[in-house]
Amino acid sequence: MNLEKPASMNAFWMPFTANRDFKENPRLLVSAEGMYYRDVDGNQVLDGTAGLWCVPCGHAQPKIVSAVREMVGQLDFAPTFQMGHPAAFDLAEKLMDYTNHRFGQVFYTNSGSEAVDTALKMALAYHKARGEGSRTRLIGRERGYHGVGFGGMSVGGIGGNRKNFGPLLGGVDHLPHTHNLEKNAFTRGEPEHGMNLADELERIVALHDASTIAAVIVEPVAGSTGVLIPPKGYLKRLRELCTKHGILLIFDEVITGFGRLTTPFACDYFDVEPDMMTTAKGLTNGVIPMGAVFSKQFIYDTFMSGPTGIELFHGYTYSGHPIACAAALATLEVFQEQKILAHAASMQSYWEDAVHSLKGLPHVIDIRSIGMIAGIELASIPGKPGARAFSAFKQAFADGILIRTTGDIIAMSPPLVIEKKHIDELFGKLRTVLKNLA
Ligand SMILES: Cc1ncc(COP(=O)(O)O)c(C=O)c1O
Repeated sequence: MNLEKPASMNAFWMPFTANRDFKENPRLLVSAEGMYYRDVDGNQVLDGTAGLWCVPCGHAQPKIVSAVREMVGQLDFAPTFQMGHPAAFDLAEKLMDYTNHRFGQVFYTNSGSEAVDTALKMALAYHKARGEGSRTRLIGRERGYHGVGFGGMSVGGIGGNRKNFGPLLGGVDHLPHTHNLEKNAFTRGEPEHGMNLADELERIVALHDASTIAAVIVEPVAGSTGVLIPPKGYLKRLRELCTKHGILLIFDEVITGFGRLTTPFACDYFDVEPDMMTTAKGLTNGVIPMGAVFSKQFIYDTFMSGPTGIELFHGYTYSGHPIACAAALATLEVFQEQKILAHAASMQSYWEDAVHSLKGLPHVIDIRSIGMIAGIELASIPGKPGARAFSAFKQAFADGILIRTTGDIIAMSPPLVIEKKHIDELFGKLRTVLKNLA
């Protein structure tokens, strides 16, 4: 494997990246272990973001690495269309245990985007199968991120991700986002104000009629638009309204799943029962791409009581890939053996105190935290939204810490195996970056 700077960087069209800027001044990672990356110049970089929210058990976790090695030599690929392999079934059962049997089935995808589009299609087909084919409308939320498929983009609420891609899906509406700096700045955990924003669903129902609405999809904690934490009572209220109107509630747990809030899923943390849940990322500790849609037993039963034959005309060549299944099975074992959730819970208040200690630094207009997530919002440079946080990101990397920025918000979500010494290093270096930020 090449550990040197590549001879040319022209051919790789990089995703969600300022390609020209990056290729002028690249940030290249060549190896990773535990809490650290190593870059091409040999510098250690402390991972404050678990890659892209996807490495809860730490990098190069030995058990997961050896499970992948073993499976690639044993069963490199096996189709799951009218075929199967034991690991896919074993993993599904283990995942049901891990969700405490809140759900009855799991459908495999290869990413969060595919999980979202799968869940939306399931919702539509479910209503059709039970004789309510008029329920075709999908409701997302402003500032929601649900990946980059046409379904996910359409229910998503990020202007930049939508504006260049045509009319998107028809029949989609959006709830308002819940971010409110005037009322909720510098909150630890769920903010006080904004539960009533869930009632906006009543307005949407009044406009379109419940008989046209299939599903509501929300991230329990919105990650990609900068750590937007649901106001107290908001998700419970959304659940009540969906139940009242016969609308399926989908939680997009692509970032909150697998321990990010110190519980297995956000639905455990908030004690709210979604009808479906989309996941990816931490499912395999980020080692191999895999996503999964969890669905309630009643949804599966509806399909299984329809005509015989293929019940859902949907799937991916790599749904339930053996190597991904091996990685996910090993990840679940690591969660249990290493008591990853208990460790994360034991670090949570230290983590939260550390991030809130940055209050008062220049340009910091909000700090918010929940579980092992932190958001730091900076005042924008007039006329240059995002520029201030992006320069913090670049400086942080140069100083040996990986943070993530979206607009002028810094989002942090470290591997859950983080220790106090890493928290000290991360926030010590970030403090210096913020102090010197123009
Ligand atoms: C909530 C949420 N949904 C969906 C996705 C898309 O996942 P992927 O990039 O694996 O397609 C993401 C990715 O960050 C996400 O945060």
